[in-house]
Amino acid sequence: MSNTPYRTALVTGASSGIGAAIVRRLSESGIEVHALARDAKRLEALASETGCVPHAVSVSDQAGLEALIAGLEIDVLVNNAGQSRTGNITNTTPEDIDALVDVNLRAVLQLTRLVVPGMIERNRGHIVNISSIAGHYAFAGGNTVYHTTKAGVHSLSQQLRCDLFGRQIRVTEVSPARVETEVFGRLIGDMAEAKKRFFDEYDSLLPEDIANSVAFAVLAPQRMNVSFMEVLPTMQVVGGLNFAKKTSVSG
Ligand SMILES: NC(=O)c1ccc[n+]([C@@H]2O[C@H](COP(=O)([O-])OP(=O)(O)OC[C@H]3O[C@@H](n4cnc5c(N)ncnc54)[C@H](OP(=O)(O)O)[C@@H]3O)[C@@H](O)[C@H]2O)c1
Repeated sequence: MSNTPYRTALVTGASSGIGAAIVRRLSESGIEVHALARDAKRLEALASETGCVPHAVSVSDQAGLEALIAGLEIDVLVNNAGQSRTGNITNTTPEDIDALVDVNLRAVLQLTRLVVPGMIERNRGHIVNISSIAGHYAFAGGNTVYHTTKAGVHSLSQQLRCDLFGRQIRVTEVSPARVETEVFGRLIGDMAEAKKRFFDEYDSLLPEDIANSVAFAVLAPQRMNVSFMEVLPTMQVVGGLNFAKKTSVSG
């Protein structure tokens, strides 16, 4: 339990990984957590475990989001739902561009737009956006559409602080590097192979590391806004400069 003035939270992408860990962590601190994702079964299991309120809604379902928010007073919005894809701009499909922009960016903007008026009315609120190092850095192997949507989430986080200036509403962006979740398994369509390729030989972050980072910001004293946290595994760095030799450029 804690002394937070926040009574309620809405966490998107709550059925697995980072989102489920955030639901657990915020529930432990005495906040009533509304957990949103598409997988109703997993949300029910999380509800039995944590006491959270499950909402089996897709963030792509605009009418569903509007109906949900109309009936709730949300103090903490955690925009966490996200998807990725393999490939880059040279081989992406129109459908993948639409899906990533829709889930990773459009829905974040829409939910924020829906939740902010209530926060302004109560002069109390906290928006936590889970972006990614992909939104801040270019690196080979990353999906260009994913990078672009996460850069949008970064920009939104920055601009929101200007929009909400002078109010007791905080905006936190948490930008993780590799976290051991289902995201890579979903990406390549094979959980076991993803575990082998991305996790077995690496000391990645765990979902609770990000949940604890979120809790640090949410439970901080009201005078303090943790505006941005970049969270890397100790053994991972972002960087590297590539320069193709004249002889290596073909076509
Ligand atoms: N894992 C990493 O290395 C890493 C690094 C940086 C940033 N991130 C970000 O962290 C966030 C959480 O990802 P994760 O790693 O925890 O992956 P994950 O285990 O695959 O979780 C993704 C969550 O998003 C939900 N989701 C996907 N599409 C949705 C939709 N249309 N409507 C509602 N919910 C939807 C999924 O639930 P349903 O399938 O039940 O809808 C799931 O709960 C994402 O924004 C991701 O980009 C992850």
